[in-house]
Amino acid sequence: MLRSSLMVFLFLLAERIGHVYGSAGNFWTYRGTLGPDHWHLDYPHCGGIKQSPISIDTNQVVVDTARLRPFVFEGYDDVRDINVTLENNGHTVQVDLNQKLSTVSGGGMRGTYIAQQYHFHWGSVDSRGSEHDINGVHYPMEMHIVHYNNIYANISEAMDKPEGLAVLGFFFEVKRYNPHFENIIFNFDRIRYRNLHTEIKNIPLIDLIPSSLTSYYRYLGSLTTPPCYESVVWTLFNQTIEIAEEQLEQFRKAIFNNDESDGGVSMDISDDFRPPQCLFHRKVYASHEALKFNPNPVYQPEVRNQNVNDGSHGNRLKLTLSILFYCVITNFVL
Ligand SMILES: *[C@@H]1O[C@H](CO)[C@@H](O)[C@H](O)[C@H]1NC(C)=O
Ligand SMILES: *[C@@H]1O[C@H](CO)[C@@H](O)[C@H](O)[C@H]1NC(C)=O
Ligand SMILES: *[C@@H]1O[C@H](CO)[C@@H](O)[C@H](O)[C@H]1NC(C)=O
Ligand SMILES: [Zn+2]
Repeated sequence: MLRSSLMVFLFLLAERIGHVYGSAGNFWTYRGTLGPDHWHLDYPHCGGIKQSPISIDTNQVVVDTARLRPFVFEGYDDVRDINVTLENNGHTVQVDLNQKLSTVSGGGMRGTYIAQQYHFHWGSVDSRGSEHDINGVHYPMEMHIVHYNNIYANISEAMDKPEGLAVLGFFFEVKRYNPHFENIIFNFDRIRYRNLHTEIKNIPLIDLIPSSLTSYYRYLGSLTTPPCYESVVWTLFNQTIEIAEEQLEQFRKAIFNNDESDGGVSMDISDDFRPPQCLFHRKVYASHEALKFNPNPVYQPEVRNQNVNDGSHGNRLKLTLSILFYCVITNFVL
């Protein structure tokens, strides 16, 4: 009796420690036993039904031009000579804005949102990296500008409230060299390892983002990293940001996920994206008629056999189909 009580006690203690370690220790990864499939064990919200990212099926979007009006940006063009913090947090490269300089409103959102930070998700090769995808097509990198609703005192207070956060998401395309990212990339040697940070001169947000911001997708979702709170008004813009392959290579080669003192082999952060989550009962809205279109035939099952020679398309199709299948089954069970 005593012995079994002791066992139960030890078990509960181990659970408790495991739990504290899991949630306080920032212990999650993009691969292996602490990867996205396991996040929900330590962070229950990650198993919710309004998770992000998602795969946007352009054929299914609901066009709502009346509600999804243009955004109103303030302070995005502020050129004041101030510093921001560039950091490697072991999961991404992040720029913390430190000041309530830039806000966004309009765009069919309720209220005004203050820009807090922006960060990146990128792949080790050009065919992946973005968290969201359009009809199964992934982009090599995605930038998230994270804002919190100004009815809250700070981002910590807002991050678990419904529509507490607004994230603006931008896809990158490999094209011309983009000088606006120099200030970030040139300082990568100062943040090679996890938990290193440095001050850099503020870059007006308007310089980083595309010129046309009226075509976008909208849905309600979550943080794409633990604790995966379902608090985010998501916007994904149709116009992409250009970047040169050599600049992307810097993201891939110069940023590591281990502490400087860890020793051993350094692993780069590339492929720091969460796979698409089930849409369940949610709808994706579009601000413009042109955003609702029939996707490239590659993604229609009936033409599958025509693509057997193309390995990458075939695999992508298989992945898209298996996610679809999984979501249909889970939707049915829930
Ligand atoms: C955020 O605001 C809340 C409420 O005012 C406060 O208790 C908390 O300390 C603040 N957190 C940070 C990180 O500033
Ligand atoms: C801004 O950062 C630079 C280093 O990048 C530093 O030399 C400078 O003193 C900082 N300025 C302020 C006002 O903190
Ligand atoms: C932008 O819209 C066009 C059609 O209007 C489409 O071909 C393209 O894939 C879209 N790109 C993104 C990133 O949404
Ligand atoms: Zn992100």
